[in-house]
Amino acid sequence: MKVPAIVLVLAIFVLNLANMSALPVIRIIPDAVLRKVAAPVKSFDSDLKAVVKQMRLAMYKAPGIGLAAPQIGISQRIFVMDTTEDESGFTAFINPEITQRFGKQQSEEGCLSIPGFRETIQRSKRVIVRGQNVDGEWFEADAEELDSFCIQHELDHLNGVLFTDHLTRLKKPLFNSWLLEEGIAKP
Ligand code: NI
Repeated sequence: MKVPAIVLVLAIFVLNLANMSALPVIRIIPDAVLRKVAAPVKSFDSDLKAVVKQMRLAMYKAPGIGLAAPQIGISQRIFVMDTTEDESGFTAFINPEITQRFGKQQSEEGCLSIPGFRETIQRSKRVIVRGQNVDGEWFEADAEELDSFCIQHELDHLNGVLFTDHLTRLKKPLFNSWLLEEGIAKP
């Protein structure tokens, strides 16, 4: 059967539209992309803005307080966060780096890529972080407690690190048995 070229072009166009509007799938352990060191962002173009928009939608839909690009399969140094209840604190960090850390505090965490597992770990109580916005402009943030923990958690994702990597020697077995129960790890 011969399909007219115009029909094929239209079909591809419609499929692309459908893809663009679909929410990205959040990657779950043991997806290899979660263990890769993400690449720095070099182009502050419309593609980057589209990725940030998709991440924003996915984070609010989940719902979560933070989401890193590798969690939607994009190995680039981007994360988004909003720790407010009313979606008023949305921030995108591109090429972020922590420049100073102060104090230590316990932080009970979960992760959209490890659904169903929560545990308390230790992190810096306060951090100073610098990053670029979607236009490439550098900005600095001074964050404490929940904001600080969220920044550290999301920045870890850009280095292939998961919060469970910070579990103490005594808590690691809890996670390992959870992995077995969930069928994520093989006995
Ligand atoms: Ni996470």
